[in-house]
Amino acid sequence: MERHPDIQLDRVPRHVAIIMDGNGRWATARGLERVAGHREGIESVRAVLRAARDYGVGTLTLYAFSNENWNRPRNEVSELMRLLEEYLETEIEEVMSHRARVRSIGRLDRLPPSTRRAVERAVERTAGNDGMQLVFALSYGGRTEIVDAARRLARDAEAGKIDAEGLDEKGFAAYLYAPDLSDPDLLIRTGAEQRVSNFLLWQIAYTELHLSPRMWPEFRRAEFEAALLDYQGRERRFGRTSEQMRPEAPGAAAGVAGVEGVDAVSATEGEGAGPRAPSAGVRGHARR
Ligand code: FPP
Repeated sequence: MERHPDIQLDRVPRHVAIIMDGNGRWATARGLERVAGHREGIESVRAVLRAARDYGVGTLTLYAFSNENWNRPRNEVSELMRLLEEYLETEIEEVMSHRARVRSIGRLDRLPPSTRRAVERAVERTAGNDGMQLVFALSYGGRTEIVDAARRLARDAEAGKIDAEGLDEKGFAAYLYAPDLSDPDLLIRTGAEQRVSNFLLWQIAYTELHLSPRMWPEFRRAEFEAALLDYQGRERRFGRTSEQMRPEAPGAAAGVAGVEGVDAVSATEGEGAGPRAPSAGVRGHARR
């Protein structure tokens, strides 16, 4: 595997999330059925997963099917479910070879039983892997995730398990679908659109955005590398000034945790993966 010489391995984002958009337009532009775009999109999933593994990305979260996608024509929905099942069955050895642990976020109970079983099988089969995490957002909506969290939290408050007065951001985040995942450092959206589309609304508060003009089926290793380079050119300040982010600045070693308006957990994690954040190199090297 050949790595891009300009990508600094100690400043690779720890968590990359992707809105894979443009499959339909890619297909239509070629006189093909929309589903041909989804099928070709699987090649991009494969290429991006390999690249993410090669560069040491810890978590790759893919927006594979949104809550809103249930409103698509029935045959497109069932084809997407079928493709997902096919992917999880035929690619499992490749996923295992990356030592990737498959996880999912979203309302899995809404998926057809066979799709749900395929997801559960992949999750079980890869549960012991520690190379990286591959998270599929399935039947996922950011607002629904927050409402689901609020509902469970309200129940716990009612049962006296938590003290509502003492609730803070970290306490709330513990009720999200996968609270142990760090917030994404980088969110990529393909398909020449500039929206967040209800994806990880809570988690992307301080995430860097990379908007690609490429349709998802065209987004492969080179485009992923371009996104990493774009990310590495950013300065993540978490509300602070540039001067404060310099390692030699007074108080910089304390990191950004504790800065008003910045969640301590996210901020500390950003430190480990963020360009030009204090001690980024040390944490980055420690990971490999
Ligand atoms: C958006 O393109 C893409 C989707 C709704 C689904 C993404 C699915 C895949 C890449 C294939 C299967 C997934 C996995 C993880 C194996 P769009 O159809 O909205 O494109 P358009 O905006 O051009 O219509």
